[in-house]
Amino acid sequence: MKTQYFTATSLDGFIATEDDSLEWLFPLGDINHSSYPAFIAEVGALAMGSSTYEWMRRNADMVIAETGSPWPYTQPAWVFSSRTLPALPGADIRFVQGDVHQVHAEMRAAAGGKNLWIVGGGDLAGQFHDASLLDELIIQIGSATLGKGKPLFPRRVLNPTLRLVSAQQMGAGMAELRYTVDKNGPAGVA
Ligand SMILES: NC(=O)c1ccc[n+]([C@@H]2O[C@H](COP(=O)([O-])OP(=O)(O)OC[C@H]3O[C@@H](n4cnc5c(N)ncnc54)[C@H](OP(=O)(O)O)[C@@H]3O)[C@@H](O)[C@H]2O)c1
Repeated sequence: MKTQYFTATSLDGFIATEDDSLEWLFPLGDINHSSYPAFIAEVGALAMGSSTYEWMRRNADMVIAETGSPWPYTQPAWVFSSRTLPALPGADIRFVQGDVHQVHAEMRAAAGGKNLWIVGGGDLAGQFHDASLLDELIIQIGSATLGKGKPLFPRRVLNPTLRLVSAQQMGAGMAELRYTVDKNGPAGVA
């Protein structure tokens, strides 16, 4: 069982524009031709922050057109927010806040031995890293820059803590880098 941050980013390190748009991302590649189908098949539970969740609510029509459902995940999900957010019909969601340790334990218990996916955003993935709970980063780097936006991973984590284990080209629009996090390496500095 691994805890994985799997996400796409712009070349200059942003996972969404400042106003949470992903329109720049879609022309860069088809998710079904990426490692995503194999990745999600091994995920037993997932966690995301409220901006990511609200993107899904705002774009429910597009998500339905792509997947047939406003909530495409069959796995149990944890949504981090300090606010009260509306639930999505049919979604297996728990709304949580604060320290990630307890949530991680709940995710592990629910995942049936499968992997845990930290969907994003970057700071939430960073919170799991700060707690020494993040095992892998799987980052699809798009052939586009945004200049500013929502950060991929707003932490300082220096080599050799991150170990590149594979690099794969996915056409002209994307490359995927996979890293393991060496938890015995030097501690990252926030
Ligand atoms: N490129 C990709 O593949 C990809 C992947 C994932 C996401 N995205 C997009 O990237 C953007 C990410 O947005 P974001 O950077 O703002 O991150 P986010 O993690 O989606 O949302 C951040 C918010 O979550 C809540 N939160 C986070 N940690 C918390 C904690 N421990 N306790 C309580 N609440 C907590 C806080 O909001 P409140 O407390 O105010 O609710 C915080 O402002 C979204 O637009 C998303 O759609 C892109």
